[in-house]
Amino acid sequence: MNILLLGSGGRECAIAWKLSQSPRLDHLYIAPGNPGTTAFGTNLPVSPNDFEAVAQAALEHEINMLVVGNEDPLVAGIADHFHDTPLLQHIMVVGPSRLGAQLEGSKAFAKEFMQRHGIPTAAHLTVTHDNVAEGIAFLQSLQPPFVLKASGLAAGKGVLIIDTLDEAKAQLTAMLDGKFGSASQQVVIEQYLTGVECSVFVLTDGHDYLLLPEAKDYKRVGVGDSGLNTGGMGSVSPVPFADADFMQRVRQRIIEPTIAGLQSEELPYCGFIFFGLMNVDGDPYVIEYNVRMGDPETQSVMPRIQGDLVDALEAAATGHLADINIGIDPRTCATVILTAGGYPEAYHKGDAITGIDSTHDCIVFQAGTKLQGDMLTTNGGRVLAVTAYGDTMQDALRLAYDNVRSIHFDNAYYRSDIGKDILN
Ligand code: AMP
Ligand code: GLY
Repeated sequence: MNILLLGSGGRECAIAWKLSQSPRLDHLYIAPGNPGTTAFGTNLPVSPNDFEAVAQAALEHEINMLVVGNEDPLVAGIADHFHDTPLLQHIMVVGPSRLGAQLEGSKAFAKEFMQRHGIPTAAHLTVTHDNVAEGIAFLQSLQPPFVLKASGLAAGKGVLIIDTLDEAKAQLTAMLDGKFGSASQQVVIEQYLTGVECSVFVLTDGHDYLLLPEAKDYKRVGVGDSGLNTGGMGSVSPVPFADADFMQRVRQRIIEPTIAGLQSEELPYCGFIFFGLMNVDGDPYVIEYNVRMGDPETQSVMPRIQGDLVDALEAAATGHLADINIGIDPRTCATVILTAGGYPEAYHKGDAITGIDSTHDCIVFQAGTKLQGDMLTTNGGRVLAVTAYGDTMQDALRLAYDNVRSIHFDNAYYRSDIGKDILN
């Protein structure tokens, strides 16, 4: 089978790593990929958002399956484009329809969907220029801190958590006035939930689902969950508090009603669902849906999948997921992200990266990297992900950090406390 994977981050590097191990795979193409993905397939200089170019590449390389790594093309309808274009209809697509992708593309839609299906989530109100007074009254009814979310896609930056009512009112106005462009034309105000977060992933064909390993992501840039939000500074899988009882609640209260809701509302969905959950005293609440895998969770999740990912994706794309079992490696995986100093604010690009060759007993997934001649250089905020296995979380973390310390570039930064909060 020939597979075309869309995306260019550490997540796609990890998916490519896993796909490349399948005996079912003839050739993997990644568009656009990064220098790390060339170890697993052929990079194509094609933007995932340029549907015509993706389609052309798919035909030229006799692609059998399209796997969409990132959310933008899904929200824009790439799956529909393939299903609706006669020349492309024979290509299996892993990724939901535009309607299904609203779960991530519109937080207002997602909240109302959860409400319709009785799925536990924070109380909320959707505000536009037409009901600002109602929005302010809702803010006044809440306890601080206040959670304001741009409804549309905002590259992970559209969530504000604000301590004072005055600031929340001011930010509500700023958002409606375009602080996040059209993404904040609608703002979702939410009740603040207190708990520990956890990312749960499934692969679904729209009827059945396969539960993938869960993970915990470390979003803040600084030690002790301090500082600015980032795309994610590290991850661990499994998550100790996500025990059998908790996961049973997640299945019954969240995963199954979500898939049943997609079905009953006729929202075609084949692909990954990422449930961003808050564990509130043992009860799971949905913080957000994503219609793709998480980054950097995927870097800890893929290495724990023992079965053939190509088989599972094919089953999802053809509606046969009920037949699939994937084994899960009982070991822990820990991932530490090396970022360019300054990230998530301004940072430098083009610095030489050394030391990857001297790493051992770990997997280095590349993200923001670029080859300049023979030299690997930094080319983004999140540069590399270093993932290691361990029989315990402690062992996995020790090995990941040992290797992180042998990789060098100017102003490299990493969080030194990944996993620490859940070690015991
Ligand atoms: P998101 O971009 O939706 O993942 O939100 C970014 C982060 O904001 C989440 O990972 C949570 O840490 C936090 N957050 C979002 N919604 C809430 C909420 N209702 N209560 C508490 N924290 C939240
Ligand atoms: N790690 C969170 C995300 O991928 O959205």
